[in-house]
Amino acid sequence: MPSLDYLFWRNPVLLWLSKRGWYDATSPTVPFAVRHLGSRLKAVGGEKDSNETRPEAREDLLAKFLNAKRDNPGLINDRTVLGLSLSMVNAGGDTTAITLSALFYYLLKFPRCLRKLLIELDGKLPTEQLRPDDSSFKRVIGWREAQQLPYLEACVKETFRIHPSLSLFLERKVPASGATVAGQHVPGGVIVGCNAWALHRNKAVWGDDVEVYRPERWLECESEVAALRNRTLFQFGAGSHTCLGKNISLLEMYKLVPSFLRAFEVGP
Ligand code: HEM
Repeated sequence: MPSLDYLFWRNPVLLWLSKRGWYDATSPTVPFAVRHLGSRLKAVGGEKDSNETRPEAREDLLAKFLNAKRDNPGLINDRTVLGLSLSMVNAGGDTTAITLSALFYYLLKFPRCLRKLLIELDGKLPTEQLRPDDSSFKRVIGWREAQQLPYLEACVKETFRIHPSLSLFLERKVPASGATVAGQHVPGGVIVGCNAWALHRNKAVWGDDVEVYRPERWLECESEVAALRNRTLFQFGAGSHTCLGKNISLLEMYKLVPSFLRAFEVGP
């Protein structure tokens, strides 16, 4: 809401106070990212290869940013690393968390779907991996294994459809030459936008029961309808600015959901 945005985030009085250090207008993610960057820099001794010197030698995004700074000192400095880290936390944290929360919410709200998913996990994953007390129990389901689980995929996609993380309009500026959008001429310079919540409730694409969480809609439709639905799914945006972290996020979800459901018994 523009008025609330102005009141809380663009309020000139708060920004003025913040400039003088009398008010903290930064998002809570800033101190979080600064803290992690500080402790990592301390651990790697500032300029050394973060992977070589860290005890766990884990390659994560922060390690990659620090290595990029080491390799391109003229291009990337500590501020750039902080900016990159912040954009990852802001763009990738809540969005994935919202989708996961919604997915578990719907599985618990509709135990029928949870049961079907558990049956699929039991049926499709090797049986020796089913019991946590078995020494061969594999805690984390890999990406390849998760790709063999069509009902899981249907649950994830149905969650994206019914509860896309971003409810904002994704805006684009029409080029100076103008553009034709949905058969309508739009002059250059105009800002147009699309909203996933509206697109995902288009009955012509999804059927009359758009308000219902029903993963089966992804499995029982003809291939052309499935292709249309996949194209219309807009939770990661589209075009040249489509989400850069889409694959990271999908990887997290497809590994976490089955691994979690096999390690824990969940119920409403
Ligand atoms: C379920 C999880 C996620 C959702 C729903 C989501 C959604 C989106 C959306 C809607 C956009 C705008 C696309 C557009 O304007 O067309 C976007 C952009 C972006 N996302 Fe994500 N995102 C997710 C996860 C992530 C993760 C995990 C990362 C990074 C680790 C990430 C990084 C970015 C970046 C950097 C952009 C800006 C791209 C650009 O402007 O060129 N996102 N995301």
